Amino acid sequence: MLAADPADGLCRRTTKAVLRFVEERTRLLSLTVFLSSKPVPFDLNWAYTLGSVSLFLFVNQLVTGVLLALYYRPAVSEAYESVRFIEEEVTFGWLVRQLHAWGANLMILALCLHMARVWWYGSYKKPRELNWLVGFCLFLLTLTFGFTGYLLPWDQLSYWASKVGTEIPGAVPVVGAYILKAMRGGEEITGATLGRFYAIHTLVLPAITVSLVFIHLAMMRLHGITPLPGREDSRKVPFFPHHVLKDAVSIYCTLAIIYFLVVVCPWKLHEKADPLVTPEGVKPEWYFLWTYQYIKYFPQQMGAVSGKVVGILSSGLFFALLALFPFLDRGDERRPAKRKLILGIGFLALAFVLAMTVLGFICETEHTILGTHFKFDILGIPEVVKKP
Ligand code: HEM
Repeated sequence: MLAADPADGLCRRTTKAVLRFVEERTRLLSLTVFLSSKPVPFDLNWAYTLGSVSLFLFVNQLVTGVLLALYYRPAVSEAYESVRFIEEEVTFGWLVRQLHAWGANLMILALCLHMARVWWYGSYKKPRELNWLVGFCLFLLTLTFGFTGYLLPWDQLSYWASKVGTEIPGAVPVVGAYILKAMRGGEEITGATLGRFYAIHTLVLPAITVSLVFIHLAMMRLHGITPLPGREDSRKVPFFPHHVLKDAVSIYCTLAIIYFLVVVCPWKLHEKADPLVTPEGVKPEWYFLWTYQYIKYFPQQMGAVSGKVVGILSSGLFFALLALFPFLDRGDERRPAKRKLILGIGFLALAFVLAMTVLGFICETEHTILGTHFKFDILGIPEVVKKP
């Protein structure tokens, strides 16, 4: 029999001593064990991995964001050139920028799907109402990340889309002018806007989001994950490695999708921003497009108030209803087949948002469909320009 290596024993004792030192002072190890050892039903499906996919995408944003910040310069005279430098000169800079840009879009999509899963299985019901609310705040924060980050490259599209985007809250009566000034740091989009968007994007939002993600996960751990409706008595298995393996497969697929997008349709850097040249067809990003399009259908004036204001307030109401959804749908029933009304309303809302998004994309463009050439006006209504 071989004698035990004394160096081995020393190594093990030192590791143990270091871990005990950290544990006694921070309780970090107990917290990690607490968060990762929760038992989960063995039959959770793939939709239950969407929260972890969102978490992975958020970590991707943090890591790539820090790397970008090493080279990015938030000044009107340097922002565009610094992004170009990252794309063309920095080793793997293009990859980091692409992962950040595509990661942001996929994170918003993953969050929408995660929300849809929670909504479909009624996982927002008692006692998880507050966790839905925390999640909803995370969703709003992620949209704000998208809005503030979009301006940073300081190219034509980002400049004009931010101008249009800041005009929307600016139209709210009484407080609108103040909101607009606070957002822009003045009347127009200038270096002051760039500076505050950068500070919010890189300092304020990450700090609040990280804190809320911790609260979200701790609350999820506290109540345990909701079992599939009707399968409340399913056998429980440890979270690690059973569910973690499933999460890992979904995360791996997400990585494959990001790399596919990065290679096949890289995120473009357009011409440098020029405040004197308005490009044609400026539109906000896809996740804001439905609100932007929806507001257009209101007439100029509706009685004493402007139609735009009614549009803005009613889309605000839509978000408020979504946030308060668990407090409106209060029954215990979670089986989708028994919640036809609620799910029906949800599907109608989803169809409306999708329709507005499609109209938003198609408006102010020209397309040839089955040989006929159409021009779509500002409302997305087609006009035949040339027949076959
Ligand atoms: C940065 C954003 C977010 C992250 C990282 C995140 C992460 C997670 C994770 C890992 C889980 C457990 C596994 C799963 O259900 O997939 C979870 C559960 C949950 N999430 Fe999120 N989430 C986020 C945003 C949201 C949003 C936007 C909502 C809804 C408005 C939401 C509502 C919930 C609820 C109610 C649960 C408990 C579900 C249950 O017990 O079955 N989360 N989240």
